[in-house]
Amino acid sequence: MHYFAYRNDELYCEDVPLARIAAEVGTPAYVYSRRTLVHHARVFRQAFPEALICFAVKANSNISILHTLAQEGIGADIVSGGELFRARRAGVEPENIVFAGVGKREDEIAAALKQDIFMFNVESIEELNLIQRVAQELNTTARIALRVNPDVDAKTHPYISTGLRENKFGISMDSALMDYHYAHRLSHIQVQGIHCHIGSQLTTIEPFIDAFKIIRALALELIASGIDIRYLDMGGGLGITYEREKPPLPMELAHAMAPLMEDLPCTLILEPGRAIAGNTGVFLTQVLYTKQTEEKRFIVVDGAMNDLARPSLYGSFHDIRPVQLNTSGEEPVKVDIVGPICESSDFFARERLMPACHHGDILAIMSAGAYGFTMSSNYNSRPRAVEVLVDDDQYRIIRRRETLEDLIQHEELPQ
Ligand code: LLP
Repeated sequence: MHYFAYRNDELYCEDVPLARIAAEVGTPAYVYSRRTLVHHARVFRQAFPEALICFAVKANSNISILHTLAQEGIGADIVSGGELFRARRAGVEPENIVFAGVGKREDEIAAALKQDIFMFNVESIEELNLIQRVAQELNTTARIALRVNPDVDAKTHPYISTGLRENKFGISMDSALMDYHYAHRLSHIQVQGIHCHIGSQLTTIEPFIDAFKIIRALALELIASGIDIRYLDMGGGLGITYEREKPPLPMELAHAMAPLMEDLPCTLILEPGRAIAGNTGVFLTQVLYTKQTEEKRFIVVDGAMNDLARPSLYGSFHDIRPVQLNTSGEEPVKVDIVGPICESSDFFARERLMPACHHGDILAIMSAGAYGFTMSSNYNSRPRAVEVLVDDDQYRIIRRRETLEDLIQHEELPQ
């Protein structure tokens, strides 16, 4: 759910018309609803009151967003030193930070150890050995979980499916017991959990439960063999409604998992990203031109794949709504909505039936709060968009629009 809705033909975010934001801050722009964000955080906390909930920072890493979540008792699932820096700057406590990723560098491991984060989700034995060495050098102990790959098909887009045998993530179930016993013997490693994440934008409960049963069995086996498993980190992955999907609610997932948790002396950790942030944001873009070719009708907008990559990268569907409804009685038309970038993959929608649009109209690309701004780039030397956070009838710029000077600030002319 979210707090974006029409009132008298105008699309609002909470109590602010999106047209007003576009007029005042310009386009393209990301607009987030604080009320939606807080609501989603609370829904997770209520469904899983005992769990440690760590927001996947990769979904939306703006420090205002992370700070708002931290105030709601949500920690951070990080995958880089950069995300660690952001999370700490936003006020996330180290004891609420978990660190995943197949390619953690030594400096990133050292930074996380110095901050005394809650847990490393370790993805290989070489990585484990490096963490052991760095922890020894720093005269500290690293708390870890091994990320296991349960070989479960998440039935999602192949690019965001991570729990299959052929994926690069985690260690295989076949060697898990042996690897855990190896980790257990290391002097500066404290084994405390099991981690797994099978994929993203999951719309049914079954893959979660299949994976959880496998993790549960491993936990019981490890505990019986004397390894103190106290945390089960089931990653993120809960999907959202982009079009007509009906993903499970956090409470439904909680009910399905509860019987499997009962006899385990373990605390759950979850790493939702999209389910918390996805529907909290929209991407505003302005119609520059309309153009009719023999084949098609195009709407050329001022936002592009560098701003919101999901449609071009995964062929993802995002609902697109005019911020001002067209009440002129014009017929809807089938259009391609495309950006100015010099690639045919630069589109937001193809063959989409849309209300008639004209030069100057503002469109809201919905469900852009997760993996929107964080995946943006400066391709085609386009300054990155402004980010805005709405709070009831107010809004605040939480990241200013990049300037042309920003584009070249780290570059040098030859001497
Ligand atoms: N934990 C781990 C270890 C992950 O790899 C991910 C996402 C998450 C948690 C959060 O998953 P979520 O709850 O957001 O599904 N760029 C893609 C999504 C990539 C997800 C990568 N890992 C997209 O735009 O769909």
